[in-house]
Amino acid sequence: MQFLENFVPELTVSSPGRINFIGEHTDYNMGYVLPTAIGNKITFKFQKNGSKQQCNVYSVGYKGFSLDLKNISKSATEWENYVLGVLHEISQLTDKLRGFDCTIESDLPLGSGLSSSAAMECGLAYGLNELFDLGLSKITIVQVSQRAEHTYVGTQCGIMDQFASVMSKEDHVILLDCQSLTHRYIPIDLHPYKIIMLNTKVSHNLATSEYNKRKQECEEGVAIVKRKNNNIITLRDVTQTMLEQSKSEMTETIYNRCSFIIDENQRVLKMAKALENKDLTIAGNLLYEAHHGISVYYEVSCPESDFLVAFTKDKPEVLGARQTGGGFGGCTLNIVHQNDVENFVQEATVAYKAKFDIDLEAFEVLPSGGTKAS
Ligand code: GLA
Repeated sequence: MQFLENFVPELTVSSPGRINFIGEHTDYNMGYVLPTAIGNKITFKFQKNGSKQQCNVYSVGYKGFSLDLKNISKSATEWENYVLGVLHEISQLTDKLRGFDCTIESDLPLGSGLSSSAAMECGLAYGLNELFDLGLSKITIVQVSQRAEHTYVGTQCGIMDQFASVMSKEDHVILLDCQSLTHRYIPIDLHPYKIIMLNTKVSHNLATSEYNKRKQECEEGVAIVKRKNNNIITLRDVTQTMLEQSKSEMTETIYNRCSFIIDENQRVLKMAKALENKDLTIAGNLLYEAHHGISVYYEVSCPESDFLVAFTKDKPEVLGARQTGGGFGGCTLNIVHQNDVENFVQEATVAYKAKFDIDLEAFEVLPSGGTKAS
């Protein structure tokens, strides 16, 4: 793109991906999650270009595109909608946006359940907030980014990914209550274990439609339980006892979805406690339990993730494992003893290749800080 010839960036922002330690699909049910940002990130460089409304965005590895701030609409090119969605949402809040040029470079594997989409939305919103002094708070940046995902990308996501990308703190996970947005930073010290991610390299294109379907199924469950318990609003308010009392009125699928979420919320709280007590055996077991629920009751896993989790079960060097993120592929998160990481990765790579003919990708992640200007 032409602007690249004379590009003198005045601001650099890095926006991280995230892992979710535990608490999957609980966020849009107003429950608890336990995510943290990781070292892998998207880097944005910005300059004001002096125009009123002309913007140029170039993403390394993709083509660039230009847009007019007064004429924003959805694009047929998927990744452009992350940018357009954020610009649209910010324009609803302020008229201080002006023309800018921006380059984007990512070292976050796409579609791997590490939330490259939230990193993209939050980094852009954060950068524009700084560049044009928009006065948006961090939480507004989180919410703007989440809305961009709803309106322009089409996933009815919860708030976890954007919250983790912006609000994380090095060496901590965030215990976030998605109902009140109150949160607490829990130190995470797994020594002598490490967090090793195994990327299945599959991202089933079912993901968006099935994701939205899960949300609807949960809402259906809530509507049924509400017949007997008028005061409940979301699944967060539903107890296992209430669910049992309404079980006969719902399909087995709806029952399983709701039951998983109720259990998963409890697991998040137990995990927070286990990490605080540094009880790594309990932490590992909770990961396995969570994966079982994700796979059997919430049905958002896939054969590749199930295989990788099952592969770890008889390995004494692995305390626990589960698929992380929205599901249907992406990465599994594994707690592996530091002395055995190399062996473990090698064995998993061989087994995975033999089973699926896919080259596994493995990497360590470190709980890191959120979006920042550098
Ligand atoms: C995706 C969504 C999040 C959350 C997870 C599942 O990453 O963006 O809001 O629902 O899936 O926990």
